[in-house]
Amino acid sequence: MTMRRPLIAGNWKMHKTPQETEGFIRGFLPRVKGVDSVDVLIIPPYTSLDRAGRLIEGTSLLLGAQDLCSEPEGAFTGAISAKMLVACGCSHVLVGHSERRELFGDDDQIVSRKLKAALDAGLMPILCVGETLSEHDRVEEKVTGQLRDDLAGIDKEGLEKVTIAYEPIWAIGTGKTATPEVAQETIGMIRSWIAQHYDDAAARGMRILYGGSVKPANAASLLAQRDIDGALVGGASLDDEKFAAIVDAAL
Ligand code: PGA
Repeated sequence: MTMRRPLIAGNWKMHKTPQETEGFIRGFLPRVKGVDSVDVLIIPPYTSLDRAGRLIEGTSLLLGAQDLCSEPEGAFTGAISAKMLVACGCSHVLVGHSERRELFGDDDQIVSRKLKAALDAGLMPILCVGETLSEHDRVEEKVTGQLRDDLAGIDKEGLEKVTIAYEPIWAIGTGKTATPEVAQETIGMIRSWIAQHYDDAAARGMRILYGGSVKPANAASLLAQRDIDGALVGGASLDDEKFAAIVDAAL
């Protein structure tokens, strides 16, 4: 018996206008009506959040953002604060997605500050960790290094609000999914790290997702793994039918 409720999250990346977001939500809501044993989260771009927040009001669909600024407010042109995300109806925010780390220079110090900014504002962060193809033979060292640096200064109470997403970078957008066994091995290792650095209860309660080319066809076998509590879906979350099929795989 697990006390962890599955979470299926759709990271839209730089896709969909507010109008397209509305079209998705109108098509998707009837498909997941009655789903009550799985948390379902959409993560549109900033410009769609306000409209999405209004459309999902009163439903069980959750809303998240793809990133946030580490500062609460001020002269930070182009940046978006945690408070702004909350005001749009967000409950969650991605922190440290590999594309932020690789393309926008978010290092572990920045990721750690963003994680704290999210928690301070009452947002639930989804901390993304993972290794590149060339780092794959030392995945444990890479991922535990990220956990150590990114979670520095987060106490047990803060940790309870955090979800971890393990995303091998070589499996993102490439069609190459980690096998369920490989994904389970790393995610099990992450759970052991939490047990060692916090305690067993924290490890048992920690929701850990897999991400990287999750599709309707492979979702069930990944979600069947003991330590995999859900999925962070990119490409396949853009289509309401496909994303609903992944939610079904978690039921
Ligand atoms: P993908 O993206 O499902 O398109 O591989 C996953 C992610 O980057 O979160």
